[in-house]
Amino acid sequence: MIELREVTKVYKGQTVPAVDRLSLKIPEGETCVFVGPSGCGKSTTLRMINRMIEPTSGTILINNKDIRESDPDRLRMGIGYVIQQIGLLPHRTVAENIAIVPRLYGWPKEKIRKRVDELLELIGLDPETTRDKYPSQLSGGQMQRVGVARAMAVDPPIMLMDEPFGAVDPIARNYLQDEFLRLQREMRKTICFVTHDINEAIKMGDRIAIFNKGRLVQYGTPHEILTRPANEFVSDFIGYDRVVKKLGLYRVADLAGPAGCVAREGELPEIGRLMREKESDVAFLVDAHGRPCGFLTTEDIGGMGDEISPQSLMQKALGRRGAFAQREMVLRDALSLMLEYDTEYLGVLNGGDLAGVITLSAIRKHSCRKEGE
Ligand SMILES: Nc1ncnc2c1ncn2[C@@H]1O[C@H](COP(=O)(O)OP(=O)(O)O)[C@@H](O)[C@H]1O
Ligand SMILES: [Mg+2]
Repeated sequence: MIELREVTKVYKGQTVPAVDRLSLKIPEGETCVFVGPSGCGKSTTLRMINRMIEPTSGTILINNKDIRESDPDRLRMGIGYVIQQIGLLPHRTVAENIAIVPRLYGWPKEKIRKRVDELLELIGLDPETTRDKYPSQLSGGQMQRVGVARAMAVDPPIMLMDEPFGAVDPIARNYLQDEFLRLQREMRKTICFVTHDINEAIKMGDRIAIFNKGRLVQYGTPHEILTRPANEFVSDFIGYDRVVKKLGLYRVADLAGPAGCVAREGELPEIGRLMREKESDVAFLVDAHGRPCGFLTTEDIGGMGDEISPQSLMQKALGRRGAFAQREMVLRDALSLMLEYDTEYLGVLNGGDLAGVITLSAIRKHSCRKEGE
């Protein structure tokens, strides 16, 4: 656990504090994201945790021990540190870069060699073709991965990450974020992660600390911050799309209900009766192999009056072939699909199988739900 108590930093020659009476507790195994505009004190805070910068006043504790009691070099060896500029040594190979801290610990050569390969595998790089390359021979995304591997080399329980994915293009960044989330689910390290991007904060953080001008303005889970912004600064920083952002936190499986009515092509002439029997507003059409290929709603059937031809029903249903969402899809993307297909329903898939239905009304209820309900 990391705890900051009334920590203040005033840089030499400055009158305004870069960090102002900051108090914060980061529970073990969680990712805490520091977010806020440029210059608000995020990096300064991070660098005080590994004593690269000393606070002007206040106390920082790691596992209830004041970090001033630890030797700074020792302390830093036990804390992984990743920065945006990556900081790989250009004249050292990938393997040598990753081995820096294990060497400081005096690990035997063989143990280091094994660990380097293991880390390269872990971060998705091929050890065979990567370990002897120099940083300049790597792409930005690959360098960033090596930076992360280096920080994890001795498996430190704490990682400090300062805009770690800031220098890579959006596609690579998204990929690195997903990979890192996957790793963190297993590693459960205590992580301080700095970003100026609120979307990245919401995606990566178990908790988010929002900074403004050296002060902590709000500290809470992404859900809390999106539901109850503490003040105008926070709500402006989040943006008007806060409900849509919140929909990014939840998945289709969280709100899916059972698919009430499932029919094959031959049953289309009686589809209205079938839906009434099942008391279902939506009927899924499945092909000869039982795979879902579209759906119809009571509105479709009512709206077509007496002369409903099975062909037109079929066409209507097949027009929604794409209106299906995997269980893991976030609600934001599901909502987008509903808007795209102009429908209040989406079929829910588990792999290729129909697993239920999700409705616009369920998303609406979920979105306007008040905290605590
Ligand atoms: N070494 C330094 N000397 C003087 N002022 C600094 C130094 N480093 C940062 N600052 C100032 O402290 C404030 C906070 O900076 P920083 O922690 O880097 O912000 P952030 O990481 O949120 O962008 C800024 O006003 C910055 O100009
Ligand atoms: Mg910074």
